[in-house]
Parts: sequence; structure tokens; C-alpha cells
Amino acid sequence: MNESTPPKEERMAALSGLGTSRKRVEDARFTQGKGNYVDDMKMPGMLFGDFVRSPYAHARIKSINTEAALALPGVHAVLTAADLEPLGLHWMPTLAGDKQMVLADGKVLFQGQEVAYVVADDRYVADDGIQAVVVEYEELPVIVDPFKAELDDAPVLREDIADQSEGAHGPRRHPNHIFTWESGDRAATEAVLSEAEVVAEEMIYYHRTHPCPLETCGCVASMDKVNGKLTVWGTFQAPHAVRTVASLISGIAEHNIRIVSPDIGGGFGNKVGVYPGYICAIVASIVTGVPVKWVEDRMDNLMATAFARDYWMHGKISATKEGKITGLWCHTTADHGAFDACADPTKFPAGFMNICTGSYDIPTAYLAVDGIYTNKAPGGVAYRCSFRVTEAAYFIERMIEVLAIKLGMDAADLRVKNFIQKDQFPYQSALGWEYDSGDYHTAWSKALAAVDYEGLRAEQAERLAAFNRGETRKLIGIGLSHFTEIVGAGPVKNCDILGLGMFDSCEIRIHLTGSAIARLGTISQGQGHATTFAQILASEIGIPAEDITLEEGDTDTAPYGLGTYGSRSTPVAGAATAMAGRKIRAKAQMIAAYLLEVHDNDVEWDVDRFVVKGAPERFKTMKEIAFASYSQAIPGVEPGLEAVSYYDPPNMTYPFGAYICVMEIDTDTGTTEIRQFYALDDCGTRINPMIIEGQVHGGLTEALAIALGQEIAYDEQGNVTTGTLMDFFIPTAWETPNYQTDFTETPSPHHPIGAKGVGESPNVGGVPAFSNAVHDAFKSFGLTQSHMPHDHWRIWKIANSLGLHD
Ligand code: CDP
Repeated sequence: MNESTPPKEERMAALSGLGTSRKRVEDARFTQGKGNYVDDMKMPGMLFGDFVRSPYAHARIKSINTEAALALPGVHAVLTAADLEPLGLHWMPTLAGDKQMVLADGKVLFQGQEVAYVVADDRYVADDGIQAVVVEYEELPVIVDPFKAELDDAPVLREDIADQSEGAHGPRRHPNHIFTWESGDRAATEAVLSEAEVVAEEMIYYHRTHPCPLETCGCVASMDKVNGKLTVWGTFQAPHAVRTVASLISGIAEHNIRIVSPDIGGGFGNKVGVYPGYICAIVASIVTGVPVKWVEDRMDNLMATAFARDYWMHGKISATKEGKITGLWCHTTADHGAFDACADPTKFPAGFMNICTGSYDIPTAYLAVDGIYTNKAPGGVAYRCSFRVTEAAYFIERMIEVLAIKLGMDAADLRVKNFIQKDQFPYQSALGWEYDSGDYHTAWSKALAAVDYEGLRAEQAERLAAFNRGETRKLIGIGLSHFTEIVGAGPVKNCDILGLGMFDSCEIRIHLTGSAIARLGTISQGQGHATTFAQILASEIGIPAEDITLEEGDTDTAPYGLGTYGSRSTPVAGAATAMAGRKIRAKAQMIAAYLLEVHDNDVEWDVDRFVVKGAPERFKTMKEIAFASYSQAIPGVEPGLEAVSYYDPPNMTYPFGAYICVMEIDTDTGTTEIRQFYALDDCGTRINPMIIEGQVHGGLTEALAIALGQEIAYDEQGNVTTGTLMDFFIPTAWETPNYQTDFTETPSPHHPIGAKGVGESPNVGGVPAFSNAVHDAFKSFGLTQSHMPHDHWRIWKIANSLGLHD
């Protein structure tokens, strides 16, 4: 006998499905200190490995003497490139088709580069060993300025490829040149610019910064020589890709490698790539026969692991006198450091920088990017962004401001005049993308109304007048940003990394009593996947989210996927989850129809059950169907209730947002105070509004850090001058303002539940809002452009250069 049916609303609420602000299931263990991070791992006999690092940015290595280190009690081995060479592991492939030294092979190319690997009883003995290794260096001239890298007398950095005129991304014109990548129509754009009524031109620098996750990178490698199985637990944002790459590099068959990402304390792109530390820990475990741990300290992390940005973007934008944009031109000089280790899809060596036409209907555009080698750490990762989208958004949102000044127009009006119209979607951009959906005018109007934009401008003008009368030393800046993101790589036909197609996956197994486990190819690093993906499933298969366990990160159990970065989890793995759920439902429909003795087409889905059409009292709940699927012989239907989906998205998703920052700037001290920050995000269908809000808060705080102080800086000798958290700005609650969040909801037409990604949006949209506020405060005094980060000292210098100090 069936139980009676509770009301639909009650049954929906019991599921905690789509649109519910379900509390994060992860937090019970995180807030009690019960997380399981790599450095928590303790294994019998485990050793610790750590690096001798180069103090020089560019030097030849004349000798390495390891004798004294090896003589220290507790030191088990010291590896150098000479030890790795017979294994073919002294160099490794990078994600960008270049190669990178695992341990210094003849020379070093950046400060902090890995020179030797000391394996010892623990990290303290390893450190003693590091101090005892004697390395003789011969200093070489250093390049820190990418614009000097191709001068005639520039030192050749990469002697290993000096004679190669072709790189992974086409021709190279100089030994320090990596590639030229072009997009759009150069001739047409230059013609439009030459005939334009108004052209604004700027050099916009997006400085070198670093993702700096709370947990640094690390791993524990354990080679079990009895059964030939290698297990590596590590801070991996893409565990399956690591398994494949590890197999290809080491020659160990892929089924004998197990990669596990346990809890990860933030990734932000820092944990996508493969680092020498992983290779050395694996080799050391093979050599010593016991597990070997490697965990960076904070200075290692800041100096040597993947940096972000470092793009010099020279832009020109043309318009009619009335402010209709006619063309956009950009040439970017991209400082990639010593090895090209950028984490970008193969066909996009400058990532998705060609989304730089932004939210605007710009008919003609051209983008060229030149990648350059310098004596800096390699990387070029998407720091909370989708493959250089944040650079693109910063570029266009600054160019709009510069154009507005040139036109004498209000920057908000200029945006309205040029937004892609709602009825133009799907929209084909001049640089080749098809934007899936958007409603920019609605979002923008909502944002302007929410902050009383007119009122703010009036107040700003009054303040300026008071400033000019000498009644105050503070100016008001209103920072506008309307960004469009591109997230969710694939599709496979366009996007691969090292030949691995960028799809994602979900496998669902319904248990006999009606609860479930779902495993995904992604891996959460704090985004709350265990909470939100269970919500997608709850809505798809009618099992309460709390009855669904979600697992990610173990390559022995999870289906193959390309991992979590670039806000791709929801657009790709989230879609796979919905699709796998629908396969479960399709089979459940057959089972329900059999149990109810009707044709398959005579039952319909109703929240958590199949109901006979026209006879609502006759139904089978998902729980009953699950039980029957395992326990009853159903003709023509296999026992069990499982499904897997490998999802290759037909397009990316294009979330967008309207951000407004109101900033008070003290012209005498250069200090800034964020008085108001309004952030409207449109990420399509919202799975969990509370998690979205948390993502936006976190991303905005990173954006604030980047715009207002965070930087990896080098002196002329290539020394990193910001290698500790004393110098590298991490905002605390003190600097973090109160954020006002809002939303519109424009579903993606091609995503099964209409969701777009959101994790990166606040960083992408936030940086221009903060930076534009600084520029806006000083624009009446003639400032059009100044480089980030806008720390107090730099703002003071702006005020000083504009003659605002007596
Ligand atoms: O790939 P990553 O997890 O970093 O980014 P994401 O796909 O944008 O998702 C970040 C978090 O926000 C996840 O827990 C998502 O499920 C959640 N989210 C949501 O609730 N609704 C959306 N439309 C997009 C993301």
C-alpha cells in the first residue's frame, strides 16, 4: 500500500533541491578542525623532502656538493638533476606545451628555482640538509622587463631551445619569444581606428600577483613496490589529469597510479599545474621505498609556484562622437617567466583573453598576444578566473572609462549605449565567441537604482567642490564595472589541456533503501560541491539532498574528469550530474510503470515519485522504485539503479554582473575606504543562493586585495621583494568592507538546468570596480590611467603627481 501524498510544496522542501539555501554539509568537519588535508597525513616510516632553491634569478651552476648534507644524521638522500636524468625526469612537460626543469640542469632561471631535493626524517632535518648542500653559482645578466627581452644584447634565457624557431604555439622570432597569438581582423580594425571620430589609447598593466591559497601546495607519494602501485595524495585541482600526466612521464601504467585529492584549502588556479615537488616526492618514494611528503612553506609558495596575470595590454578603442563604439584593438605583452607553464586550453595560449570585447556590441576587433620569457617564476594560472578572463575584463572596463573621459560622457551612459541588447543573444562576438544569454540593461539599471547613481554623482561633485575650496582632503571615487565572463571549458572540440578533452562527469549509484552516492570528476577546494551537487540531484531524482553522499577527488573511484578551475564545475560537471540524474529517472520510469501495471508513457514525474496520469492516488516513490530495482525481477530491465554521464558541453556559459564601488580616498595619506560595494551577479539558474553569496564575498575580497595591494614584485636583479605575507597583501576582516549582493537570473539555454558558473565572477568583475573607483576619484584632475595595485603609497604618489599636495 502506498502512503498518502503530502502536498507538493512540502515534498519539494524536504528535498532541499535547486534554489534552496541549504547549509554547507562540509562545514561540520571544517569548523571543528576535522578536515583531512595533505599535511595532516601521517604514515609509518614517512620521510619529508624539501628543496635547495636558487638565490639567483639567472646563474650558471658550476657545481653541487651534497656530501656534507648526506653525512647528516637523518638525511636519506639528496637528488639533483644528474640523478633524475637517467630516468628522463630532470625536465618535465608543462601544461602549455613547453618543458620545465624539475631540478636545475646546468643553470637557474628564476629566484627560488628548485636546485636539489633533500629527503630526510622530517622537515627540520631536511632543512639542515638544505643548508649543508653547497652550490657554486656564476651569475648571469637578468631580464625582468619583458620589453627588454628581445633587445639585441638581451641574454638568452632558454639555451635548451635557443635555436628553435617554432614553439608549441607557432613561430618564435627571438630566443626569448614564446609565441604570437592573434584573434580577430587586424586590417579591418586598423581601418576603423584610422577613420574613427574619436580614439582613446592606453597602456594598461595587470600586475603579477599570486593565488596564495590558505593551504600551500603539497603531496605525499607512496610507491608500494610489492604490488607496483603508486598512490599520491596531493593538493590537485585536476586529479585525473595528474594521473594521466604522471603515467605518461613515469611510464607507470595508469591503472597502477592512484591520485587522491583530500580536502583542499583553496586552489584558485595555484593547484592546477604539475610542480617539481610532486615529481621529486614520487622519485624519492621509489628510491627509499617509503612514503615521502613534500609541503611548501609560504615563501616557497609565493616565490616559486604558479603566478597569475603579468599582462601589459596596449589598447585602442574607437567611437563616434555620440559614443557608439566602432572598434577595439589590443596588443598584449605577456610575461610568462622562465618556462611557459600557463594553464590554458591548448588552442588558447592567452586563455580566453579574446573575450575582451566584454559586454559590448563592438563590431570590429583585433587582439594579439606575445608571450615572452623572463627571469621570473613560471605559471600564468587563472587566479580565480577562467583562463585570462580577468585580464580581459579589466582591459575592457578600463578602456571604457578612458573612452568616456575622452568623449566627455558619463561612463555609465557609455556602457548603456554599447551593451549587447537582450534580443541579440545568442550573440556572435567580433573575436569569435557565441555568448549564450544575457540581459545587461536590466542588470545595469537595477544596479544604478540600488546605489542611487545620480545621487552619488551629485555628492561626488559637491565633495570635489569642497576639496577645491580646501574644506576637505578626501575625494569620492565611483567605480563601475559591467563584466561578462566565459566559463565552463569545453567543449572538447575547442578545449583540451595536453590533449585531454575538457568534458566532465558524474556517476550515480542509488542504494536499495533509496539513498545514493554520486561521484564526480571535479574536486571542491572550498566551493561546497558536496552541498550543491546533491541539490541538483535532489531536484532531478527526488531523493532528499541529505540522503545523497557526494565524492570527488579519488581517481580509483571517481569517473574521469578534468577537474575544478575556471568556474567549470557547475557548467560542466553540474550538467553531467543533471544528465546522469535524468538517466536514473528514465529507468525509474520503466520500473514504476511495471510496478503500477501501466505503459511507460502513462506515468509522469511529480517531485519525488512517478504518478499514473489522471490517477494521482496511484504512484511509486523514488524510494519504492529503488528498492524494487534491486529486489524484483522486472522483465527486460537489468537489476540496479545506476547511471554515469560524461558531459561535453555544446558551448561555454557567459555569466555577467554589474558592480559598483564607492570609495573615499584621502589624498594626503593615500588611504582608501570602501564606503559601499554593490555586486549584482547573474549566473543563470541559482542552485544555492547562500553558497553563491559566499563565493561572491570571497571573490570580492580577493579582488580588493589584487586591486589595492597584492603583488609579486621583483627588483632589477630578479629578487622577489614580496616573498612573505609581511609584504604580500592578504586582506583581513579589518580591510574587508560590507558587500551588498544582488542578482538577476538569465538561464543558460544550453545547460540542462540553465546554470552558469559563478566562482570566478567576483574576482573578474571586482578588480575593475575597485580600480575604476581609484581612477574615477582623480579623473577631474586629469588622471586617465595608473597601474595597479593601488596601494596607499602609489595613491599618494598619484595625488602628488597631480599637484594635490602643497
Ligand atoms: O568550478 P567552481 O566550483 O570553482 O565554480 P562554480 O561552478 O561557479 O561553483 C561554485 C559554487 O557555487 C558551487 O558550489 C556551485 O554549485 C555554486 N553555484 C550555484 O549554487 N549556482 C550557480 N548557478 C553556480 C554555482
